[in-house]
Amino acid sequence: MEPTCAQTTPAQIAELVQRRQTMKVLGDVTAKLKLDAQVAGRNDPKVVEAIKVAGWAPFHYDRGVNGIAEPWRAHVLWHQDCQKIAAEFYNWFDDVKPGNKLPSMLSACGALVLVTWLPQFRPGFNAPLAGSEEVAKENQVDIDDEHLAASSAMVQNLLLLLTAHSMGTYWSSGGQFRTRKMLDRLGIGSEESLLAAVFVEYPETMNQPAQRLPGKQRQSRSQRFEWIREVNLSGGKQRSNFD
Ligand SMILES: Cc1cc2nc3c(=O)[nH]c(=O)nc-3n(C[C@H](O)[C@H](O)[C@H](O)COP(=O)(O)O)c2cc1C
Repeated sequence: MEPTCAQTTPAQIAELVQRRQTMKVLGDVTAKLKLDAQVAGRNDPKVVEAIKVAGWAPFHYDRGVNGIAEPWRAHVLWHQDCQKIAAEFYNWFDDVKPGNKLPSMLSACGALVLVTWLPQFRPGFNAPLAGSEEVAKENQVDIDDEHLAASSAMVQNLLLLLTAHSMGTYWSSGGQFRTRKMLDRLGIGSEESLLAAVFVEYPETMNQPAQRLPGKQRQSRSQRFEWIREVNLSGGKQRSNFD
C-alpha cells in the first residue's frame, strides 16, 4: 500500500534510525542542572508514552511472571530522584573508585529508564514458569536468548521514540545499577536482570554546560555494509557488498 500523508514514510523512519545516536552527558554534580517543573511537566509524559509504545516490540514467548506476558520491565526514575542517587552514590557504594561517571550522568539527565529482562532458566533468577524443569536444556538457552532479543527490540524502540521527541539518549550497561544492592534499593525484583540504563536528556537542558561524548563505536560502522551477504541459490552472480 502506498503511504498516504498521514503515514510515516520509509524515508522518515530511515532518517530517525540514523539520527538516533549515543550521547553520553556528563554534568557537574556540584552545579545543579536547571530543570524546573515546567520542563519536567512537558517532557516526563512524553517519556512515559515512549515507554508504553516501546512495549509494542515483538516477543516470542509468554514469560508469565506475575501474570505479565512481556519478558521485559521498565523502571523510570525522574530527574529529582536521579539527583538524589547522584548525591548518595558514594554512601551507597563504598567500593567504587572516585571519578565514577554515574553521578555526573545522573546529574545531567531528565530521566533514567532502567529496562530489565526476565531470564527464565538462567541460574540465580527466580520465578521460572511452572513446569520449566521439563524443558530440555538446549531449549532453555534458546528461550532465554529470545526473551533477551525481544527486550533489546523494546529498548531500541524506546531510543527511537525518545529521539523523535528530540531528546538525547544513551544506552548504558548500567555499572552499579546492575548490582543487586542497587536493584534492591530501587525495588527491582530478584527475577529481573538489567539490560539497559537509558539516560535521557531533555531538549531544554541541552544548552547547559556538560561534557557530551559520542558512543565509542559510532565511527566503527562498516562503510560498505560488509556484514550483509546475499544468498543466491541459483548460482548466479553473487554480491558480497551492498554499497
Ligand atoms: C547492549 C549495549 C550496552 C551498551 N553499554 C554501554 C556502556 O556501558 N558504555 C558506553 O559508553 N556505551 C554503551 N553502549 C553504547 C555504545 O557505545 C554505542 O551504541 C556505540 O558506541 C555506537 O554508537 P551509536 O549508538 O551512537 O551509534 C551500549 C550499547 C549497547 C547496545
